[in-house]
Amino acid sequence: MSEQIITAVTNQLHTVIDPYTSAKITAGKSLKKVTVDDKTVSVLLSKGYPVAPVVRELSELIQAALKDVELGSRDLEVVIDQDIISHSAQQGVKAVPGIKNIIAIASGKGGVGKSTVSANLSLALSAAGAKVAILDADIYGPSQPRMMGIKGKPEALENKMLLPMKGHGMKVMSIGFLVEEDTPMIWRGPMVTQALEQMLRGTDWNNDGDDIDYLVIDLPPGTGDIQLTLSQKVPVSGAVIVTTPQDIALLDARKAYKMFEKVDVPIFGVIENMSTHVCTNCGHEEAIFGEHGAHKMAEDYSLDVLGEIPLEMSIRELADSGTPTVVAQPDSETAKRYQSIALKIAGKLSVKKKDFSAAFPNIVVENS
Ligand SMILES: Nc1ncnc2c1ncn2[C@@H]1O[C@H](COP(=O)(O)OP(=O)(O)OP(=O)(O)O)[C@@H](O)[C@H]1O
Ligand SMILES: [Mg+2]
Repeated sequence: MSEQIITAVTNQLHTVIDPYTSAKITAGKSLKKVTVDDKTVSVLLSKGYPVAPVVRELSELIQAALKDVELGSRDLEVVIDQDIISHSAQQGVKAVPGIKNIIAIASGKGGVGKSTVSANLSLALSAAGAKVAILDADIYGPSQPRMMGIKGKPEALENKMLLPMKGHGMKVMSIGFLVEEDTPMIWRGPMVTQALEQMLRGTDWNNDGDDIDYLVIDLPPGTGDIQLTLSQKVPVSGAVIVTTPQDIALLDARKAYKMFEKVDVPIFGVIENMSTHVCTNCGHEEAIFGEHGAHKMAEDYSLDVLGEIPLEMSIRELADSGTPTVVAQPDSETAKRYQSIALKIAGKLSVKKKDFSAAFPNIVVENS
């Protein structure tokens, strides 16, 4: 009898789709155990992304899917925990000690909200129970010290490694900690790319013994030196493209997409930022920059729209004053949107094959 219950429950579990991975909830060896005794049927799942905010939602999906399975008089118990593993990146690029996965936040056009999105998504992943760090790769215009509300300079260790700074419980490294806020960086390309590599590999990310599940890299705009270095020297698991809905930003977002495609960095999807304006007085929503731009782009390239973030005065005020929306207003509609996007990215990453980069040939990009 218990064998039959286990089979029926397992079969039914395979039909449930995980909304954060868009794959079967059992995919990637997530289903650890189904056990049956006189009183209880227990299901144990271990997901590859941080589940704290969604344990209940996932449990309810499972309960609903199993409602017609004959369990006798037994109760159904669903336990969901997490095990975030490392996914390898581009072939031949060395891993960074202490960092399991790297996610890059990119855009074609400047000022579309990459840094704000990076800060809020990182905080959302952290609130969901992951160990997260931010690397500010914008050498000319670092934003993370201000957005994460961090002042001071990082401590240098005896071996010349830098200790990351901390803000809202997360580790952060930025060139902004090393220069004054109003000092321009007058550097040529090679120095800029060297600075990026040095910040990545010269930071002691797990000095406290805690490996980082996700390092979020806040990129500068465009498809220049930093992006090329990223694709060749940084082991990225995937990138996210931030755009605003107007045509001019989308045009540049398409270029960013094509660049990542050329250098074999997978794209998790597109985030439409400043998608509609919400009036602070009356709550009326207006599509100032046009509608559905990101959807059109996503359709053209078979990408997912990971979510939309409205143009909201408080997003700017909170990010620019050092306590982004996700920590300042965790129960707000906007924080929930960031949360959902963050889990979709982590979810998508979790169902990637552990060594998917090996499937690609090594492509050398040359100017012709
Ligand atoms: N959804 C939003 N609503 C309102 N203001 C926003 C929103 N997203 C970002 N901003 C504000 O817009 C400005 C630009 O955002 P941000 O610095 O994140 O863009 P960016 O893409 O990182 O820019 P850059 O290309 O210069 O790095 C900031 O002042 C930020 O607070
Ligand atoms: Mg920025």
